[in-house]
Amino acid sequence: MIDDAFMAAVNELSVPEMGTDATAPLLYWLIRTVRPQHVLEVGMGYTTPFLAQALRDNATAVDLERSRLGDPAAAELQPLAHAEYYEQPYRPRLVCIDRMTDPTSSAPRALKVLDDLGLTGVCTVVEGDMTGAGERVQQELGLIDFAWIDTWDTLAFVREYWQLINPAGGMLAVHYLMTYPQGRAILHYLKSLAGPEGGLEITNLREPHRTGQNSTTLIRRIRDYVDPEDLRPQGTANDPTGVLDRFAGGGR
Ligand SMILES: C[S@@+](CC[C@H](N)C(=O)[O-])C[C@H]1O[C@@H](n2cnc3c(N)ncnc32)[C@H](O)[C@@H]1O
Repeated sequence: MIDDAFMAAVNELSVPEMGTDATAPLLYWLIRTVRPQHVLEVGMGYTTPFLAQALRDNATAVDLERSRLGDPAAAELQPLAHAEYYEQPYRPRLVCIDRMTDPTSSAPRALKVLDDLGLTGVCTVVEGDMTGAGERVQQELGLIDFAWIDTWDTLAFVREYWQLINPAGGMLAVHYLMTYPQGRAILHYLKSLAGPEGGLEITNLREPHRTGQNSTTLIRRIRDYVDPEDLRPQGTANDPTGVLDRFAGGGR
């Protein structure tokens, strides 16, 4: 978890110009929320231990929840738990790519911090250029459920890796596209990937207090996404608000 010891350990990776001091915990909580299994980072540094820790904490949480399934005493702790969710194993994997040649980046130091935090086993580090590494990533991860891209080469990433982003809900978080012409052109291009069937959700998070590195864009591929709720029998048991009943009854 993100506690004082974790924050003390990652502090040496902080490079204020990289602008990820708020984004790193945001990524942690996104991963804690959507629980991806196959995660990719391109552009290592301060963010890296947050991604690895989130996957480690997810695995711990899944084990605990699974052990409490069906225990009435635990109902309050997990009021929305779906037993079906726990039928699938949760075996998260993280691949982190960095060419380790940027003297301003804390990427090379991230390896030691991962080690200090006992997170080395969570993460496969690929030292080299992301261009040409797509096949290796596919071997390691298969389809990608969550990718964090923090380089200037978003277009090159999309060209090689787009087909690896899971079309059934896979998320791509891209740093710093909103506030300069080249970034906005990339955003425009990303929106065009939705296709006529509208297979994308896009949210831009602007950090108004920063002059640079001041946004993160979240893109979710939904072409093949089916909400697990929609696979369940419809009815009042699946509709705690009663809204569906009112429609079925013709109003009110
Ligand atoms: C902005 S820094 C990453 C900052 C980091 N996420 C953080 O929170 O501190 C960009 C990193 O991407 C790496 N990088 C840039 N282009 C790359 C490429 N084409 N392939 C692999 N790594 C690349 C650089 O070496 C650098 O470490």
